[in-house]
Amino acid sequence: MSISAFDALIAADQKIENKDWMPDGYRESLIRQIAQHAHSEIMGMQPEAAWISRAPSLARKAVLIAKVQDEAGHGLYLYAVAETLGARREDLLDALHEGRQKYLSFINYPTLTWADVGALAWLTDGAAVVNQVSLCRTSYGPYGRALVRICREESFHHRQGFDLLHTLSRGTPAQRRSLQEAVDRWWQPALAMFGPPDSRSTHSASSMAWRIKRAGNDELRQRFVDLCVPQAEALGVRLPDPALRWNPERGHHDFTPPDYDELMRVVAGHGPRNRQRLAHRRRAHEEGAWVREAAAVHAAKQAAKQAA
Ligand code: 3HC
Repeated sequence: MSISAFDALIAADQKIENKDWMPDGYRESLIRQIAQHAHSEIMGMQPEAAWISRAPSLARKAVLIAKVQDEAGHGLYLYAVAETLGARREDLLDALHEGRQKYLSFINYPTLTWADVGALAWLTDGAAVVNQVSLCRTSYGPYGRALVRICREESFHHRQGFDLLHTLSRGTPAQRRSLQEAVDRWWQPALAMFGPPDSRSTHSASSMAWRIKRAGNDELRQRFVDLCVPQAEALGVRLPDPALRWNPERGHHDFTPPDYDELMRVVAGHGPRNRQRLAHRRRAHEEGAWVREAAAVHAAKQAAKQAA
């Protein structure tokens, strides 16, 4: 395949597969985004895993364990997708551990109460669904196909968060207060998940031209806000933005954009939990070394048996 064949496939909205020729920039951009995505999934296990031992019922504990396990699975699919592009998983993990590659900023905020577990899932998994449903149509086939499955599971995560909050919304005054406080804490980090505005986005223009991204950061953020408003009404919770109101001319809600300087500070490592999150990840990686070694020895033995 040549550059003209590649351009023709992109123009016809066809998928690029791993054996197809692709420009270096396309490959690098995909590896960057998919690696950050995979890192976000495995780092995203931490804020909720902290609550597994404190879940208020057996049913909530079972759901939370399943959700956290799903996030690990999403990370594994996505590292496998990056490998189809020639990346090596161990290099990507080194880049995460050494702070050379990013993961989404919201993970660096704490889950202070049980209501935070619900608010995180309702808002950040809700934002992840909006973003990833759009990415299911990405031009790189293996990434889009992995996302179809991931989106199904993320929708369940979002719904279980809403269900948890819905229970609190019918609870005691103290539970309703903790619900509101958690939503106040998670609204801005969820809005920031969509990245900087398109006017300040480094990669949007090239990623949209290559159809890696199918919608800009601003469009997806707006879609998310419009979806959240009726859901917040159903929960009887106030979204913490005095400027939030329906704009009939635009057919969308007006809202205050997230604080991008804060986003950049957190991305640069200065959020409330960056240090702990990375330290925990490095420790888990070191403690899991024997599992990786045992799996490699087992795979080598199986390969030798098959060759004999
Ligand atoms: N947190 C951290 N970094 C961010 C960010 C955020 N919220 N938003 C943007 N950035 C970074 C970008 O990665 C980029 O960094 P780089 O140049 O070093 O690579 C820089 O800021 C400029 O942003 P751009 O808009 O130019 O970057 P993109 O075009 O890549 O768009 C994105 C950013 C919208 C986040 C896009 O990368 C994307 O759609 N990624 C895939 C979605 C994803 O990562 N989902 C993970 C969800 S986490 C999850 O589901 C787990 C949870 O459920 C527990």
